[in-house]
Amino acid sequence: MLLGFDIGGTKCAVILGKVAADGEIDIVGKQAMPTNKPVYEMIELLFTTAEELLLQHSVQKEQLEGIGISCGGPLSSKKGLILSPPNLIGWDEVPIVKMTEERFGIKTLLQNDANACAVAEWKYGAGKGIDNLIFLTFGTGMGAGFILDGRLYSGPSDLAGEVGHMRLADMGPVGFGKAGSFEGYCSGGGIAQLGQIKAREKLQVGEPVSFCKSIDDLPSITAKSIADAAFNGDPVAIEVYRICAEYLGRGLALLIDILNPEMIILGSIYGRAHKLLEPVMLEVINREAYKDSVGACRIVPAGLSENIGDIAALSLALISKGL
Ligand code: BGC
Ligand code: NA
Repeated sequence: MLLGFDIGGTKCAVILGKVAADGEIDIVGKQAMPTNKPVYEMIELLFTTAEELLLQHSVQKEQLEGIGISCGGPLSSKKGLILSPPNLIGWDEVPIVKMTEERFGIKTLLQNDANACAVAEWKYGAGKGIDNLIFLTFGTGMGAGFILDGRLYSGPSDLAGEVGHMRLADMGPVGFGKAGSFEGYCSGGGIAQLGQIKAREKLQVGEPVSFCKSIDDLPSITAKSIADAAFNGDPVAIEVYRICAEYLGRGLALLIDILNPEMIILGSIYGRAHKLLEPVMLEVINREAYKDSVGACRIVPAGLSENIGDIAALSLALISKGL
């Protein structure tokens, strides 16, 4: 049996799983919860939830073969520390691996969420058998995981793939990083900010916006509400996704030129909104990146779709076991 913890800025999950006869990972049980408590209370809740899950499925701690923890960076996998992620306020120098190993008595591996998803997609998803791929989270935040020459490349300080931080324009939406960054344009928070800027411009001159009735409603705009409006033909919403697609294309073109990947796998938002993003994204990549590198690279949505975070945490549990 494998135990996984998926720690995110808005929600966390505890996942129990096992390797099935066909070699795939089966999810046996899962409990999700909002991330709404101070750090050490939250960790205690994750631990008790895991213990309840084990009890429910009649699994003893001794039967666990490995534990994986997937979390937004920055973090140190080698030291087992979570290091102040921008979307987890107060999670500073948290010795999560030591705490988990003490509580459950079994080897635990902490990895960046994007890295964990890259491994999951490579072993079980869209990237099966592809030894040079990049996974991009493209969800609440923007982070990358690199599988290079058939292994996860996380860098000497486990900070490879912090691509959300790359500045693509002098000014622009912020995301969790800096103004005009890749994450600023290409993340849930960034898209919502763009939507607010564009909606405000219209509302101020008395023009209606289908996804926001008044200036007071600006804070309730989300990437999803803008996508819904864009699918219904709203021109402001379509423009927001066009801008996002332009910068998605620029970011991908840089990654393609640097690493010559065989595949780029895009998570979360791309799964729901690729029809809105793909044409402009491809146009920009073709304009910006080296032609032969573009030709060698397939760009696809995540194969594990909704389950990706769960399988990612369990993949880490498997690696912790040394398989
Ligand atoms: C963090 C990355 C993380 C990504 C997705 C970014 O804000 O810097 O480490 O992979 O969000 O959660
Ligand atoms: Na990463």
